Amino acid sequence: HGTSQINAAGRLEIGGCDTAELAARFGTPLYVFDEALIRRRCREFMDAFRATGLRFQVAYASKAFCVMAMCRIAEEEGLSLDVVSDGELYTALRAGFPADRIHFHGNNKTPEELEMAIDAKIGCIVVDNFTELYMLNEIAKEKSARVSILFRVTPGVEAHTHEFISTGQTDTKFGFDIGNGSAFRAIREAVSLSNVDILGVHSHIGSQIFETDGFKLAADRVCDFAQNVRKELGVTFPVINLGGGFGIRYTEGDTPLPVGQYVQAITDSIKAKLAEYDYPMPEIWIEPGRSIVGDAGTTLYTIGSTKDIPGVRKYVSVDGGMTDNPRPALYDAKYEAFLANRANDPSEETVSIAGKCCETGDMLIWDLELPKTKPGDLLAVFCTGAYNYSMASNYNRLRRPAVVFVRDGEADLVVRRETFEDVAGKDVVPERLRKQA
Ligand code: LLP
Repeated sequence: HGTSQINAAGRLEIGGCDTAELAARFGTPLYVFDEALIRRRCREFMDAFRATGLRFQVAYASKAFCVMAMCRIAEEEGLSLDVVSDGELYTALRAGFPADRIHFHGNNKTPEELEMAIDAKIGCIVVDNFTELYMLNEIAKEKSARVSILFRVTPGVEAHTHEFISTGQTDTKFGFDIGNGSAFRAIREAVSLSNVDILGVHSHIGSQIFETDGFKLAADRVCDFAQNVRKELGVTFPVINLGGGFGIRYTEGDTPLPVGQYVQAITDSIKAKLAEYDYPMPEIWIEPGRSIVGDAGTTLYTIGSTKDIPGVRKYVSVDGGMTDNPRPALYDAKYEAFLANRANDPSEETVSIAGKCCETGDMLIWDLELPKTKPGDLLAVFCTGAYNYSMASNYNRLRRPAVVFVRDGEADLVVRRETFEDVAGKDVVPERLRKQA
């Protein structure tokens, strides 16, 4: 998919770059991003919204993969940006991302984070709870600033891949519950606060969702809530944000819809519901993360040791693992892979791909069909663009890999590989523990 293909030398090529050459030049493990595919995904969302004729924002949920080069692409493609920490906000600002198109999420923003956001004059803060609402108003008052806010509400819909659960009251750390009246109380409170401007409501129902039913139900409930607020409090929302969660295809079993169908389901539901109420059409916002960058990322590993347990299993180890991709260990996530340097070779055996970390759970893929491998072969694991680099760690003091963007035969380094100094250089040995000369 994307610009990936097998070249005349029988090697995987992404963005016109031979992956064996990338591995030789940048080392492994290596995250390779197909820039054209990232841009295509951005455009699919933007085009789907443009076709509706509505006012909208597509905010890239940067938690999926937050580096400065990615912020640049999001801006160039006309997206907004969702950040959830001072670190993500810092990255975005440092990349020159327009502050007025940044939205700040999170269930426990610190006073320092709120100050930073206000000082930077970001577009809006998505208020998550009462503590934050009052604290934000106080900080804004001290700074004589006005802050636009969305309220994160929980509509009682929880969605994962094919199923969604409709729960009366949601037991979650996030947001104000619509069902038990806390969302309504939050808006009523905010009306009387001096330094916040109510921009609207936000809901996010889950991640890696393949169906539209959960989004439609959430849209209905959010619109019902909006109407209730208008009727009771006289507040009309200029914005309704339905969050992210659009699924991608990691393996054959995954069946996401084309991006446009999610957008259409959301906008159609909101339009229909608000028409019933004769409610002025707000701006519609969404926040895709995984579906922007997930399938654009491929991780290249060098194969090292193998362990064959006759009649049981053959383990093939690579030079990375749960440090660069914690998703299999954390979520039992499944990935597809093949040999990048011998992409046309037929499969000969079933092996399991192990990482190099010192724990049994560090397995990347169970039961993968591969040609017989030898040390030095290159393994490409697909769909590693979202929640891989952003969730990477230094466990076992491994150095985090480099990240490159490829397109039109050019490869650009966007994050350099960590050095030993990056790993141990922050350590401080107290005087009394220092080794005597
Ligand atoms: N908006 C909000 C408020 C969110 O909490 C999230 C994701 C998104 C947008 C973006 O969702 P996406 O379009 O990427 O599904 N680490 C997990 C995923 C956690 C998602 C958390 N929130 C994983 O690796 O699967």
